[in-house]
Amino acid sequence: MTFTAENVQAALMPRSVRFYARVDSTNDIAHDWLLAGAATGTVVVADEQVKGRGRLGREWYAPPGTALLVSVILHPRLEHVPFITMLGALAIADAIEHIGGLSTSIKWPNDVHLSGRKVSGVLPEAVWDGGTLRGVVVGIGINVSIDFAGTGLADTAISIEPALGRPVDRLALLVTLLNRIDYWSQNINKVLEAWKGRLTTLGKRVSFEQESGIVQGTAVNVDEQGALLVQAVGGEIYRILAGDVALGGEE
Ligand code: BTN
Repeated sequence: MTFTAENVQAALMPRSVRFYARVDSTNDIAHDWLLAGAATGTVVVADEQVKGRGRLGREWYAPPGTALLVSVILHPRLEHVPFITMLGALAIADAIEHIGGLSTSIKWPNDVHLSGRKVSGVLPEAVWDGGTLRGVVVGIGINVSIDFAGTGLADTAISIEPALGRPVDRLALLVTLLNRIDYWSQNINKVLEAWKGRLTTLGKRVSFEQESGIVQGTAVNVDEQGALLVQAVGGEIYRILAGDVALGGEE
């Protein structure tokens, strides 16, 4: 389904929506719109991003028309901010399952996986005015029909269409995604447990980087903030709040 300003706006009525055929980053537009007073549930959608960004300063790869590139504005209470990333990942996992009946999982903290490869990611950006939280922009990228062959992501990324074996209606996926974001926003107290239940990382061998070098251990739990608790080979427990963990490692 080709996106146009008209069909995106019509599908998302009565939300406030901005659609761009091409933009630097939907998160930047949403950031400015939030500061200008945009309400919860306001959405920015693009068909192409020139400066799409991922977590940890990475670039977000998505050729024009092959992905869902969305930023949603939310106004959570301060104490709920740690759950926003989880909420995004849960909504994505739900939406992909609803659309295609595919089974998804979440790799800590917020990568949604299909058949063991990353199909989507979440980039939440809190917007502050001095010490006051003005809101959060939840940036979401979902690989719908990206062909990763010949790219550096060929072994780690996947799109929904090849996994499903049929075309995906991006508009229907977008509507479902936003409905699930609404649902989890209204059920924020259930987010931590639901997210934890979908995490594939728990119980697995993982490795991660510390100043002292690479540490290996087992992901034993997450805490109430969503931080990953890893028991290192020597028995010490590490609390990882942000960053990357790699699955696997020496036994
Ligand atoms: C990740 O690294 O896993 C998060 C990727 C988030 C990408 C989305 S695409 C829409 C929004 N705009 C951006 O520039 N990034 C997010």
